[in-house]
Amino acid sequence: AKSGQSLAVVSIPLLLIVAFVLFSSSSGGGGKTPPGPVAWPIFGNWLQVGNDLNHRNLVGMAEKYGGVFLLRLGVRNLAVVSDPKLAAEVLHTQGVEFGSRPRNLVWDIFTASGKDMVFTEYGDHWRKMRRIMTMPFFTSKVVAQYKGMWEEEMDAVTECLRAAPPAGVVVRRRLQLMLYNIMYRMMFDARFESVDDPLFQQATQFNSERSRLAQSFDYNYGDFIPILRPFLKGYLEKCRDLQSRRLAFFNDNYVQKRRKVMSARDGSSDRLRCAMDYILEAEMNGEISSDNVIYIVENINVAAIETTLWGMEWALAELVNHPRCQKRLREELRQVLGEDPVTETSLPRLPYLEAVVKETLRLHSPIPLLVPHMNLDAAKLGGYDIPKRTKVIVNAWWLGNNPEWWLRPEEFRPERFLEEEQEVDAVVGGGKVDFRFLPFGVGRRSCPGIILAMPLLGLVVGKLVKEFEMAPPPGMEKIDVTEKGGQFSLQIAKHATIVFRPVPAA
Ligand code: HEM
Repeated sequence: AKSGQSLAVVSIPLLLIVAFVLFSSSSGGGGKTPPGPVAWPIFGNWLQVGNDLNHRNLVGMAEKYGGVFLLRLGVRNLAVVSDPKLAAEVLHTQGVEFGSRPRNLVWDIFTASGKDMVFTEYGDHWRKMRRIMTMPFFTSKVVAQYKGMWEEEMDAVTECLRAAPPAGVVVRRRLQLMLYNIMYRMMFDARFESVDDPLFQQATQFNSERSRLAQSFDYNYGDFIPILRPFLKGYLEKCRDLQSRRLAFFNDNYVQKRRKVMSARDGSSDRLRCAMDYILEAEMNGEISSDNVIYIVENINVAAIETTLWGMEWALAELVNHPRCQKRLREELRQVLGEDPVTETSLPRLPYLEAVVKETLRLHSPIPLLVPHMNLDAAKLGGYDIPKRTKVIVNAWWLGNNPEWWLRPEEFRPERFLEEEQEVDAVVGGGKVDFRFLPFGVGRRSCPGIILAMPLLGLVVGKLVKEFEMAPPPGMEKIDVTEKGGQFSLQIAKHATIVFRPVPAA
């Protein structure tokens, strides 16, 4: 009996070790998968690495495991890319292979299983949606059509800030109203009167609740461990309920109104006025369904507004904390423009302003890990096998902040883009891509909104710095630039209070 007992003492741990080794080497689907921590049965690496896989936590693992590593989160595989050459593979050379988006139970609810564009798999549907969205949103003609309106909305902000109290204002809410107005005027020819407008309050609440539910880590357990899915029922119900009220809000207040305007027209003499008119025309031609129409609206609400707003908040905070840069920028604006206002047309003549925007997006990339990519079929990357349907994340923030590739990357120093990095541009395609600087991604799934986001950021920053000296609130030396990371976002944790002192005319 004693020898039986000692056999068990020896053999049970041995069996566990064998099962562990077998599991960890086979769950990637065979072949040589990228390095990563050893995975436990059922949970994989989830219990080791936890939920908060933000851009900074992933750097520690990249330093240990290399430019591409693999995590197993229950039944899901996650490959993390932290090297410019491998990023070029994923986004450019093998852009088709890695051009899909992963799905999960919650995203399926918020995209009706891929009826949208941003989160849909690579293929004919995505291509068609991207083409249909390009003409009304993402061309230089659109910029030319709307730049006057953008400037008008921004001048309304500067007007409002002239009356700001000497103790400063939390400028975020006013900039949020401005961006909603810019995007809703482009989309629907509609605008909100003030931050107290009930429609503005509903729109912002619906969108922030959607972001909270979709980006939360609370549903990981059901996503990673299928046997636990029944426990997610309540969470999924909440998502469904929010989404149906949210889509009804877009539909009843905006899309239906444009339908009426369109049908009241008597024919070709009437020009199409806003983006929705083009989208509805594509629906009338039978190219897309009414569901696709509403998901285009949903995608613009998700992708366009908060991202650009985070960029603005970061830029203003850094300029407050770096008065020298603020001064240099104001001098450039004075020298180039004199008393003329900052306009979209003047942006190409303001290189330091552009450098400020680029430096902000490098140091505080609003979407630091890009939107996750996915390979529909088994693929190769850096000599490793990537199992099919792996979620592939590119740590774009680390590409732009790794001291191996950048001089003192932790400093906010716009000058770098006029000196040692003067060749580096914010682009999403073409011949001049530098794979260390990808705030908008690159290639097929890159951000088409770059054509709007760059001038919007430049205009707001330029106008505010030209009109105001911006400073921290009385009694404070600097603005707190602590980060708040999410699955997708890199936001400023505390929305800054800024003092805006009007600059006297020269
Ligand atoms: C996708 C960044 C503003 C529309 C993306 C991606 C990034 C990004 C990193 C994912 C790229 C990838 O997966 O490889 C940003 C930043 C912005 C911004 C930093 C502002 C500072 C906008 C605006 C719009 C927009 C203003 C629309 C008006 C989109 C769309 C996609 C996208 C539709 C999905 C593209 C696809 O899946 O094919 N953006 N974006 N973005 N962005 Fe933006």
